[in-house]
Amino acid sequence: MDMIPFYVAGRPVHGDDEVIVRHPYDGTVVGRTSFATPAQVDEALDGATVTETPAHVRAAALDHVSRRLTERADEVARLITAENGKPLKWARAEAGRAVSVFRWAAEEARRFAGEMQRLDTDPAGEGRMALVRRVPRGAVLGISPFNFPLNLVAHKVAPAIAAGVPIVLKPAPATPLSALLLGELLAETDLPEGAFSVLPLPNDRTAELVRDPRLPVISFTGSGPVGGLIQDSVPRKHVTLELGGNAAAVICADYAGDADLDHAATRIATFSNYQAGQSCIAVQRVFVHADVYDRFVARLVDRTAALRTGDPNDEATDVGPLISEDAAKRVEAWVGEAIEAGAEALAGGERDGSTYPPTVLVNVPAGAKVLTEEVFGPVLAVQRVAGDDEAFAAVNDSAYGLQAGVFTHDLRTAFAAHRTLQVGGVIIGDVPSYRADQMPYGGVKGSGVGREGVRFAMEDYTEPRVLVLTGIDL
Ligand code: SIN
Repeated sequence: MDMIPFYVAGRPVHGDDEVIVRHPYDGTVVGRTSFATPAQVDEALDGATVTETPAHVRAAALDHVSRRLTERADEVARLITAENGKPLKWARAEAGRAVSVFRWAAEEARRFAGEMQRLDTDPAGEGRMALVRRVPRGAVLGISPFNFPLNLVAHKVAPAIAAGVPIVLKPAPATPLSALLLGELLAETDLPEGAFSVLPLPNDRTAELVRDPRLPVISFTGSGPVGGLIQDSVPRKHVTLELGGNAAAVICADYAGDADLDHAATRIATFSNYQAGQSCIAVQRVFVHADVYDRFVARLVDRTAALRTGDPNDEATDVGPLISEDAAKRVEAWVGEAIEAGAEALAGGERDGSTYPPTVLVNVPAGAKVLTEEVFGPVLAVQRVAGDDEAFAAVNDSAYGLQAGVFTHDLRTAFAAHRTLQVGGVIIGDVPSYRADQMPYGGVKGSGVGREGVRFAMEDYTEPRVLVLTGIDL
């Protein structure tokens, strides 16, 4: 198996220490690459300087990556499955989203032009106007997680290129291969040297990158504790954190028809278990109005039990392994703790290596980790509530606040949810796991600061610079 290169200032290179990437399902070797040496890191950071690259060059490069991802879609999906373990159907969905992210970024690159402001709104401003352009804050350090090894890299890299900002990307050590494939596609373009680097590094070398003054902007997606450490270690840097969540769905009393409950149960069963629950917006908590509780739970248990767990390379598999056996053991321990404390499992079973079966828990006592922490596994806790106020308070009773889903047909309830819920996004009539890649995406409280979503990340990577013109007749 050939060593896969990584990218230093746009050039493919090899480092010293070999990295072997294994399939989370069966431990087979799926690829070999290497860690960047300190000298290569230095070279990448020296190269990461802002250059004036015309918008058409940046847009063409982004379009190229989008097109190449489409042409190589099957290979890309198989690579995601191989290194991450998510079932092929979810890997295909991720690859399709990355195609869109790069296409959106190409479009944004063409229209990212700032704005004109009139200043004659006060007598002192007569004859004056302002042009507000957005200029790069400086090179970005992107740190991406294992759970979307392609698309969450795309969300760091594509907006940087669209905004003309150099980026140094550190992929998750468990899943560097999709990021390296993106590096390969970017290297096929006319982007200037230094526009991007992709550097596989062990996590214990992240701190040196975080502290380096050549990288004034940090965009991190990952766990809360690591995000907190980053923010605390560089309080003067511009830091965006996409952290965890324990996303909730609410089933309101008006969502009572058979078709309604079928829809809610199917979506919740699917999206508490997609990618084995390893998404920050996987459904983890469900609050169900007492009037529809029994009918909803019966459907939910049926649909959860019908999900096929096993080999992610099999097109029919719904739920694959977690990223590692240790991760599956942690989920097993948290479920065990909840059951010990009085919870009842209506669906579930035994762990098998790194695979954990979709689990539905009811009567979970307050304080159990499966309610309060981010499980990042295929586990759902369902609770009965007396009304919307109780449900919304329960959603907010969390250290996190990323997204929430509210199943209702009532527009007043939809607006009440939007007003009341302490989250970055509310989805009406669907699960919290819905994300369109152009939307602002991010959370409040322990779920992070700042927003992704192509244009929003471009704004995050840049800052306004005002040009005031005088003696102008508007
Ligand atoms: C995440 O896990 O935060 C990303 C979710 C997504 O992009 O769908």
